[in-house]
Amino acid sequence: MNDTILVTGGAGFIGANFVLEWVRKQGAVVVNLDKLSYAGNRESLAALEGDGRHIFVCGDIADSVLVGKLLEEHRPRAVVNFAAESHVDRSIHGPRDFIQTNIVGTFELLEVAKSYWGGLQEDEKKKFRFLHVSTDEVYGSLKPGDPAFTEGKRYEPNSPYSASKAASDHLVRAYHHTYGMPVLTTNCSNNYGPLQFPEKLIPLMIVNALAGKALPVYGDGMQIRDWLYVGDHCSAIARVLEAGEVGEVYNIGGWNEKPNIEIVHTICDILDEVQPKSDGSSYRSQIQTVTDRPGHDRRYAIDARKIERELGWRPAETFETGIRKTVQWYLSNQEWVRNVQTGTYRDWVEKNYSGREA
Ligand code: NAD
Ligand code: TYD
Repeated sequence: MNDTILVTGGAGFIGANFVLEWVRKQGAVVVNLDKLSYAGNRESLAALEGDGRHIFVCGDIADSVLVGKLLEEHRPRAVVNFAAESHVDRSIHGPRDFIQTNIVGTFELLEVAKSYWGGLQEDEKKKFRFLHVSTDEVYGSLKPGDPAFTEGKRYEPNSPYSASKAASDHLVRAYHHTYGMPVLTTNCSNNYGPLQFPEKLIPLMIVNALAGKALPVYGDGMQIRDWLYVGDHCSAIARVLEAGEVGEVYNIGGWNEKPNIEIVHTICDILDEVQPKSDGSSYRSQIQTVTDRPGHDRRYAIDARKIERELGWRPAETFETGIRKTVQWYLSNQEWVRNVQTGTYRDWVEKNYSGREA
């Protein structure tokens, strides 16, 4: 075993941010296994082109032969599992891929990792970690005055996406409880930042605004999410990997609950300031109410006191600093945006938004 880690889903939004930061900070080798679904993008990893510390492998976490070979060949000290289908709206239109990757894929990955871990020498066995990256959505939806989610909150997933992530969390837990596998689970709130695929709220609003398109707000826009800058999520995962107690769960959040409509207004106001429209109107005029998402969770909020108390982690960015950086990143990376807006992206937009104007 050596200092190498195996990251899955490292060509997606959070995984790519994590891999870029890990190689820059730790300088150790990352084996990056990603099947390059619509959400995976090699261009996000362009800064590591030709860097021997990044080994990219195109493949599926459910391919146990491939994963077994990678583990034997590279002898990593940890597996960090980001690979997933991650978009709630897509899970409503077609849950099958979510069951396959999030549940079956995580199961296959656990099986192979267990067998690799079981074959390690005693001191290596103690050091090995399997870190599973999950979401706050497994806890369900909160009412206005409810306390934020703690790690002890009952699982009440409401969408096919959150149900599939909940199932994967349970499998990870069971592999620790039953086989003693050294697992860690993190449940994080909504992320935003550079490299996010423009199907999620924040990047969709930025790219639609700049393209002069409608800004589709679901329902009354008063659903609340707890937003965390992606760099902060990555630093929390690194900290849990370094010092988290085996078998434990850590909630990660930004202490930053905001209704969707406020997020959209903030994006419009920043764009009005840094990229004013030629006709002098505000980007807010592009906001359009659309029919609500079925089963839409009303509110998520993370109680992140455990990770702060036990591991000394707190987010470094405020929403004000993080959202400005994010808008600036999309303004400066229009080619990245153009390249992800392929035919399949346009098909998705058509499928999810057509005929939905309220
Ligand atoms: P993403 O959709 O941007 O990226 C997922 C990546 O996984 C893609 O590169 C895709 O190609 C890859 N992938 C999908 N199926 C695969 C498979 N079977 N084998 C190998 N690779 C596969 O997702 P993201 O937003 O970066 O989320 C990463 C992880 O973090 C997910 O597990 C998600 O549930 C979790 N999470 C996300 C958020 C958020 O706000 N985005 C918040 C909390 C937790
Ligand atoms: P999203 O980014 O899809 O994350 P999640 O559903 O996992 O929280 O959506 C964030 C919030 O924004 C959610 O309440 C749904 C809402 N939303 C819109 O109002 N319009 C949109 O076009 C999208 C994609 C999301």
